[in-house]
Amino acid sequence: MIALGSDHAGFALKQEIKKHLDKRGVQYKDFGCYSEESFDYAIAAERACKAVLAGECKAAVLCCGTGIGISMAANKIKGIRAAACTNHYTTKFTRLHNNANCLCLGGRVIGSGIANELVDIFLDTPFEGGRHQRRIDQIAVLENGGSIDSGENA
Ligand code: RB5
Repeated sequence: MIALGSDHAGFALKQEIKKHLDKRGVQYKDFGCYSEESFDYAIAAERACKAVLAGECKAAVLCCGTGIGISMAANKIKGIRAAACTNHYTTKFTRLHNNANCLCLGGRVIGSGIANELVDIFLDTPFEGGRHQRRIDQIAVLENGGSIDSGENA
């Protein structure tokens, strides 16, 4: 199950992504918004990301105008690693290296053709693990208010 969310500026793109997921047979839950009426992206980010953290959904795909505001909101939620992507390379590597659990796309930045390909890459690319797990663990320490800076190489 994939969690979907958007504000008004990402709504149309999210609708296209839903059609694409339907064709692929991927199940999703849409946490809003449900029209092009003004809707704040942080609310959609909270609803979709909390479903990921609860284990109800395995990842989230979020859309706003740029993909940036909604990614900033998502990244404030502990345990969420959101990436605002506009191309195939960054989408592939945010899975391989960052184990991103939230893909953020801009409805005013990319069209549905590219967006749907990015969704496929995001869903189909595994995390590489290894040294990248250590770096993700470091992000989690920062997220919890800790420090990972030992002064090495200062
Ligand atoms: C809404 O106008 C727009 O600011 C929002 O969708 C997003 O692009 C913010 O980052």
